[in-house]
Amino acid sequence: MSGIEKRKLRHIRVSLEEEVETDIATGFEDIRLIHRALPEIDLDEVSTETTFYGKKLAAPLIISAITGGTDEAKEINSVLAEVAEEKKIGISVGSQRIAVAQPETVPTFSIVREKAPTTFVMGNLGCPQLSLGWGVDEAQKCIDMIKADALALHMNPLQEAVQVDGDTKYRGVFEKITDLSKNLKTPLIMKETGAGIAWEDAAKMQHSGASGLEISGVGGTSWSAVEYHIAKEVGKKDMEYLGGALWNWGIPTAISVIETTQKTSLSVISSGGIRTGVEIVKSLALGADMGGMAKPFLEKAVKGPEALSQYVDDIIREIRVAMFLVGARNIDDLSKVPVLVMGKTADWLRLRGINIDGYAKRV
Ligand SMILES: Cc1cc2nc3c(=O)[nH]c(=O)nc-3n(C[C@H](O)[C@H](O)[C@H](O)COP(=O)(O)O)c2cc1C
Repeated sequence: MSGIEKRKLRHIRVSLEEEVETDIATGFEDIRLIHRALPEIDLDEVSTETTFYGKKLAAPLIISAITGGTDEAKEINSVLAEVAEEKKIGISVGSQRIAVAQPETVPTFSIVREKAPTTFVMGNLGCPQLSLGWGVDEAQKCIDMIKADALALHMNPLQEAVQVDGDTKYRGVFEKITDLSKNLKTPLIMKETGAGIAWEDAAKMQHSGASGLEISGVGGTSWSAVEYHIAKEVGKKDMEYLGGALWNWGIPTAISVIETTQKTSLSVISSGGIRTGVEIVKSLALGADMGGMAKPFLEKAVKGPEALSQYVDDIIREIRVAMFLVGARNIDDLSKVPVLVMGKTADWLRLRGINIDGYAKRV
């Protein structure tokens, strides 16, 4: 088994067995929607349907990037894809670097398109690989392998910096995005992995030709935490210290959604600690297009398709009821409902010069 395969297995095991979530929250506790005692619509007429990059989905929900590259990952991807297709939600694969380097692992990713022939499928490649010399050819391989509707380029400077032998070369990535966006037909989505995206970077990403963002902010799975546990297991005291020290580093998810939706016109997937349908409704009311989750879907997928299917139903039902209670008949209506941005989230945004008063004044 190669080094990357071993690491993939460890990521899954540690995420399922150890405490890997941040101690600080997403910021959604500071975001409040206004309950309507007379919503003037029937629950039955509420539609959670949406279209994302041309694909019709039953709800604005996507399985965020998790895995690929090993037999166990293939099984997980198979369950995730089967349920994503059945429920008509989006699905992402984990980093495809391993499949480009070791083509014998391609089936652990292509199973996703086999099991999910019609829904939105997103590929995944890391920015460190771009800095180290990969480009259009490798990105095209990732796209073709799963007939991807979009390719996520993941940004994980925090994880790489706290990882034993991490790839910390991040120079020249904007130029690479420009090159890829000029030469690929498939849209590029810049994806963080749990530390969020600031508006300054988002604006530069848009300028470089990116089409969307998956902001993955702080508040859920912490890669410092995952790497802390791995460093501890392999006896790397220096990385164990760093992982512990930077456990809560980053921009909370709700803040990153507001910064990036206000300052760019990119599509935005809100993720990082999203655990409820209400948080997805809040994200959309703030301007995001979709909500994504990784760890909760992984936890259900290892229990089998029924458990995952039930969970997806629960989340979609919750989205529908929350929409009903704010009087939103469809996803577009969510951009018109008033939202209160309060507490530390409001403090942060005001200090950053972001206008938050308009959200509450919508009628
Ligand atoms: C086991 C595991 C593996 C992951 N692998 C990847 C990956 O290969 N590429 C990527 O962009 N993100 C990866 N992520 C990050 C997630 O896509 C997501 O951004 C992050 O976990 C925050 O979401 P959550 O709090 O819902 O887990 C992984 C997450 C988990 C839990």
